[in-house]
Amino acid sequence: MTALPPFLRIDPTSRSVSLDGRDPAFYGDPNRVYAALHEHCPTFYWEEQKQWFFTGYDHVNALLRDRRFGRQILHIASREELGLPEPQPHLANFDLAERYSLLEIEPPEHTRLRTLVNRAFVSRHIERLRPEIAELAETLIDGFEKEGRTELLSSFADIIPVTMIARMIGIPDEIGPQLLKWSHDYVGMYMFKRTREDELAADRSAREFADYVKTLIAERRKAPQEDLLSHMIHTEHKGQYLSDEELVSTTIVLLNAGHEATVHQIGNSVRVILESGLRPADMFRDETATERTVEETLRICAPVHIFQRWALEDVEVDGVSFTRGDKVSLILAAANLDPKKFSDPLVFRPDRQEAANLSFGAGIHFCIGAPLARLELNTVLPILFRRLPCLRMVAMPRVKDVYHFHGLERLDLAW
Ligand code: HEM
Repeated sequence: MTALPPFLRIDPTSRSVSLDGRDPAFYGDPNRVYAALHEHCPTFYWEEQKQWFFTGYDHVNALLRDRRFGRQILHIASREELGLPEPQPHLANFDLAERYSLLEIEPPEHTRLRTLVNRAFVSRHIERLRPEIAELAETLIDGFEKEGRTELLSSFADIIPVTMIARMIGIPDEIGPQLLKWSHDYVGMYMFKRTREDELAADRSAREFADYVKTLIAERRKAPQEDLLSHMIHTEHKGQYLSDEELVSTTIVLLNAGHEATVHQIGNSVRVILESGLRPADMFRDETATERTVEETLRICAPVHIFQRWALEDVEVDGVSFTRGDKVSLILAAANLDPKKFSDPLVFRPDRQEAANLSFGAGIHFCIGAPLARLELNTVLPILFRRLPCLRMVAMPRVKDVYHFHGLERLDLAW
């Protein structure tokens, strides 16, 4: 039996766990905690979060697809019935922006919106973006190659996903830095123990973000362009179109979901590749090897760890009884380390061919942007390691204090 780290207390009999989600010893290296949870208590009650959590691959995979659970519950129950607090006035703009987010709705509303968005999204032929992504990566590297060192997140990782999703939507490149600011504020809402300042910043950014998108919608209505927003405005399914509110929510969720996770994943992947001591030239020797390497990084250092679900009815899972209105959490990043599915799960093995990782989810909310994120990772990582074959880390990278999102504060490299 492996010894537990001192900040982790597990009681396998009651299946309860005590762990401070904001302790750097935990979020700096969550994988060893996940390994301990798999060994002692894969389904557990997290005392500080006051909720049940699942880490087992089969449980997480099944729960993501289980229609007795949903990302939303207010479509079938009132706040009063569930004892939920009323919406807070200082979060009105944030709530409005979330109202039609694909991540906040369930069928039939979700089915209709996802079909419409998917039509517009698929029609953009993601694969055609490959040369544009490659060109952007090469240009960014041109900008810092001669310096012999760089902080990779600000000079590279932060720029590529936001530029690509913004271009796809139809937002000019120069708005990029502003989009990053709005998005950082916005995701502050998903932090454990967020402060009122975090909430006010998220609400303010949601309002500014929505106002900006509304202006853009008005422009595209007058003069449609060859972009995703114009497509979404004009996409029709069974005589239905997206309303302005749906367009705003969708644009915001695409922008937020569309870059934050990918930024982190570029940083996480470069780190894990460099730490592995393996030869990047082998990992990226051809398309298949590259794809396997990228999937292995998504497995072992996923950028988004936890997703939650509401129990939409009374239901029992793994001996735990949930009542309608209870929340459960699924740790996708831990499911990717389940020893029942992966041999030596904590070891980075770029040629691994075992179960598919769950980093993009599963079921009806499966990541709509997965093809784009995968294309970005499969394109930019080989370019980076080909252009800078002697890449090395010059400082120990620090993980961000946003446990839910697993990403680095900075990644200082030299060559
Ligand atoms: C490495 C990068 C990414 C990761 C790991 C990731 C992960 C995920 C996961 C796990 C979900 C499902 C959430 C759930 O079931 O509760 C999801 C949903 C979603 N993702 Fe991603 N994502 C990434 C990149 C992107 C990109 C590039 C876009 C947009 C272009 C995007 C847009 C979305 C949207 C809109 C949803 C909601 C889909 C729905 O609810 O129907 N994501 N993502």
